[in-house]
Amino acid sequence: MNRKDEHVKYAMDTKKSKGANDFDKIRFIHHGFSEQSVSEIDLSTHLMGIQFDTFFYINAMTGGSEWTANINRDLATIASRTNLAMATGSLSAAIKDSTFAPSFRVVRDILPQGIVFANMQASASYTNAQKAIDIVKANALQLHINHPQELLMPEGDRDFKGWIENVAELVKKIKLPIMIKEVGFGMSKETIEQCVNLSVAAIDISGRGGTNFALIENIRSIYPMSYMDDWGQSTVLSLLEAQDFVDKIDIVASGGIRHPLDMIKSLALGAKAVGISGTILHSLLEVGIDATVDMIERWKMECTYIMTALGAKNIQELRRCAMIFDDSLYSVAMQRNLSFEHIPLRR
Ligand SMILES: Cc1cc2nc3c(=O)[nH]c(=O)nc-3n(C[C@H](O)[C@H](O)[C@H](O)COP(=O)(O)O)c2cc1C
Repeated sequence: MNRKDEHVKYAMDTKKSKGANDFDKIRFIHHGFSEQSVSEIDLSTHLMGIQFDTFFYINAMTGGSEWTANINRDLATIASRTNLAMATGSLSAAIKDSTFAPSFRVVRDILPQGIVFANMQASASYTNAQKAIDIVKANALQLHINHPQELLMPEGDRDFKGWIENVAELVKKIKLPIMIKEVGFGMSKETIEQCVNLSVAAIDISGRGGTNFALIENIRSIYPMSYMDDWGQSTVLSLLEAQDFVDKIDIVASGGIRHPLDMIKSLALGAKAVGISGTILHSLLEVGIDATVDMIERWKMECTYIMTALGAKNIQELRRCAMIFDDSLYSVAMQRNLSFEHIPLRR
């Protein structure tokens, strides 16, 4: 089986073994007066200088095989019908073998006016990154950082030197906004600071809690390092790690987003947008395009309900909503000496 197909298959198979999700360790404080109307709630956002009607989007997944070409076509159809932005999976397969280019190009064909992100590894050369952008006529470029996945992948890379310098060069040469993105291992404040210093336009902290590429690669390997299955920071902890930077750079939350309440908690923690992969992929493959479109339209409505309950008419106002954290999460944040300056706690 092609690697891209295996990733989809095992992402589906491991859905039920994801375990705890740190979003459940945060609660909003409920207040008795809302003084908001559902009809006036604004779900739009501005990210990397691009205006989005809805703050959440379909995050990078796939392309590079016959099956994943169909999945990309279906995901793009869902994006088109719900007016969501969408990222393709890594285009490296299409760069290595141009016969795979149509499995990615189909996304732009279906979304001629839509917002589409191209995706490449942060080690990509300028020439290859530009080719990837051209294949999907991208509006922005995602550069993924994924060395734990590579190390656990039997055929993965073993040398990760020079990535920072490479990103610095891409930022100088590529004319589009660039986002650095994890793939589900989360980010530390040190990594986020390095990204800020690289002057990228956005950072997707993509944390643990959803699709787990340590687990997926361990399933693919004949010498699994299963004790690494739990590697990385959760999405919530990564957002806490990002607190010193939420006013300096656009932060995207992804990793284990299950439903609108996880999305709203991410925004309240300072994210400007939310990326969803596994939950949408599972829905597509389990119940199909129509039911997934219905789910996403319901999500939009439910987001307006939650924001009304919180008395916040837009994503900026969500930043004022008081939250409480359970002791285990709070204690980890204290150990990491994280700043809560931007988070209204227990008010
Ligand atoms: C089948 C599959 C393939 C993926 N391939 C890529 C990829 O090529 N590039 C990338 O940056 N992220 C890739 N991801 C990672 C997602 O973009 C995201 O960071 C991660 O799955 C966590 O989000 P989730 O829990 O919502 O799935 C992939 C995810 C899935 C499910």
